[in-house]
Amino acid sequence: MDDQQFKQLLDYFQYSWVGYRKVRKGVKKRISRHMQQLRCPNINEYLKLLDTNKKERETCKKRMTVSISRFFRDRKLWLDLEKEMLPDLIEAQKDKLNVWFAGCARGEEVYSFMIVWDRLKIFFKRLPKLELIATDMHPEYIDKAKDGIYTKSSLKEIPEEIQDVYFDRKKGGNRFDVKAAIKENINWQVLDIFSGPPGSGFHIVFLRNNLLTYYQSHLIKNTFTQIIESLSHGGWLIIGSHEKLPEESLRLTRNPSTLWAYRKEATNRI
Ligand SMILES: C[S@@+](CC[C@H](N)C(=O)[O-])C[C@H]1O[C@@H](n2cnc3c(N)ncnc32)[C@H](O)[C@@H]1O
Repeated sequence: MDDQQFKQLLDYFQYSWVGYRKVRKGVKKRISRHMQQLRCPNINEYLKLLDTNKKERETCKKRMTVSISRFFRDRKLWLDLEKEMLPDLIEAQKDKLNVWFAGCARGEEVYSFMIVWDRLKIFFKRLPKLELIATDMHPEYIDKAKDGIYTKSSLKEIPEEIQDVYFDRKKGGNRFDVKAAIKENINWQVLDIFSGPPGSGFHIVFLRNNLLTYYQSHLIKNTFTQIIESLSHGGWLIIGSHEKLPEESLRLTRNPSTLWAYRKEATNRI
């Protein structure tokens, strides 16, 4: 499949060429296999079939999904969360902290947060109650996230001594199972970001490497506005380190240290 044909497919779903450009080789392979299975000789036939066949359209969408993630992706963010952003929020927000992970894939980002949170117990006598909602549109990823079983490659940014605190090693050290203590109280849900936030008053929203990368800009406008509205004043929106906010992102101030974390303007309360 050449790039022109691939662009036809991206346009069909209103996905972004800029977002897919770097990862297109693997995605094209998955789509070409799907086309072969369906005996579609070219992209036009394939798109015609997707138009009328919902099941295969869903299969195609799944194959178009990029689900790469890893623990502590964008290391600087996690250091700043541990040293500044979370301590600030904890000071201001004594009772409860609401966090939403939008497009959480197989849970690496969620458990990274739980590890940081657990480490904060050393510094704070009392932490607010945590309410975590972790969502993804693919039920298979949510099931995997709930299992919390990983291979060594997803843990490459975690120092060995920390690995042993939060994971049980299985199968001769090649399999890492998240320990039960950091699996508690996570509300996992299947949810398409385009159907809107799963609540409101979030103190942190993780919106990394999905909406702002893989979709065409006109498509994300309303959803992005709803996400900002779901943030509490003084709360943080965290995006991927290579992502840009849509132009109309008023009321958000960049963190001078982690440049891809943005704070919603504070009022007296958060
Ligand atoms: C590249 S992974 C990023 C995972 C994690 N946020 C990170 O940054 O490491 C993108 C994830 O977003 C999910 N996703 C993409 N579009 C979505 C949508 N419209 N609604 C919900 N999840 C979506 C995909 O299923 C995939 O698991």
